[in-house]
Amino acid sequence: MRKKVLVTGGAGFLGSHLCERLLERGDQIICLDNFYTGSKDNLQTFIDHPGFSLMEGDVSVSCDVEVDQIYNLACPASPVHYQSDPVQTIRTNVIGAINMLELARKYQARILQASTSEVYGDPSVHPQPESYWGHVNPIGIRSCYDEGKRCAETLFFDYHRQYGVSIKVPRIFNTYGPRMHPQDGRVVSNFIVQALKGEPLTLYGDGLQTRSFCYIDDLIEGLIALMNSEPSITGPVNLGNPVEFTIRELAEMVVELTGSASSLEIRPLPSDDPRQRQPNIQLAQETLGWQPKKALKEGLQLTIDYFESLLRNRGNCLNSYVR
Ligand SMILES: NC(=O)c1ccc[n+]([C@@H]2O[C@H](COP(=O)([O-])OP(=O)(O)OC[C@H]3O[C@@H](n4cnc5c(N)ncnc54)[C@H](O)[C@@H]3O)[C@@H](O)[C@H]2O)c1
Repeated sequence: MRKKVLVTGGAGFLGSHLCERLLERGDQIICLDNFYTGSKDNLQTFIDHPGFSLMEGDVSVSCDVEVDQIYNLACPASPVHYQSDPVQTIRTNVIGAINMLELARKYQARILQASTSEVYGDPSVHPQPESYWGHVNPIGIRSCYDEGKRCAETLFFDYHRQYGVSIKVPRIFNTYGPRMHPQDGRVVSNFIVQALKGEPLTLYGDGLQTRSFCYIDDLIEGLIALMNSEPSITGPVNLGNPVEFTIRELAEMVVELTGSASSLEIRPLPSDDPRQRQPNIQLAQETLGWQPKKALKEGLQLTIDYFESLLRNRGNCLNSYVR
């Protein structure tokens, strides 16, 4: 049945792909975004779709729109962006969550919170199951994001227990693909842009820290499956690709696929950077029948194609792409 769906942060990387997929399913979409890191460029392919409407606004300011489902994705996701205004990051996470939960409560809408693997902090359990409570620094430079997201999870479960709001909480692990912000400092976009420009690929620490990378289409499929699952499935549910790579392996793969002559340049590891990050996705497999399908090489090639066309069209203007 055609649903009316609010997507906060719908002009961002994940949000724009989600809007596009939901429109394809026949849903009616309202995208709420303040364009802090998002862009109208991300909406280009569907902005004129009759089922799509755009509301420019901030989740930390309450709004009133009657919908059946809410995907709460609004929040800058990369350290460079969420650390540039940490107080605003917490406002977005905490006050934004309360505003969206109030809306869900008022209209009995189902609501999904884009949580994150960062709630596990620098984990002492590996790979991380949902039952692991995390190892998080509450006063560090990443805390505005990590603790903001943890508090949002708490709010979701309290609204569920106290008011019976129907909630869904995915913990999203590193996701990559077309429409990533070219200068958000995330490792995949960093490496690809550096390789395409023939600049050295910056490796922090020894490059032996590991990450797992989920292709955008797989992640979006997981979010939609979770949103439309049985009401008893609230999460938290890990969504990510469990195949682990070292950062050095990723860098070498990007150099190979781009055919770049770039070298690798070692820089000091930033504070609070986790050594390992890998999801245990058993719960998602069992309850949603979901698991990622796209191999890293294949997904990287599609992402490289996207950045190649961005560089062709914008050239050196890419340096001023950041808002
Ligand atoms: N990309 C990942 O790998 C990843 C991993 C874990 C969790 N997440 C979560 O998924 C969500 C989307 O991430 P993304 O990678 O698409 O990031 P993004 O920065 O591309 O998108 C975030 C969007 O939210 C908007 N936004 C930010 N603050 C806002 C506010 N106060 N009011 C309204 N809009 C606001 C931005 O303009 C942008 O369009 C975030 O909540 C993020 O924490 C992403």
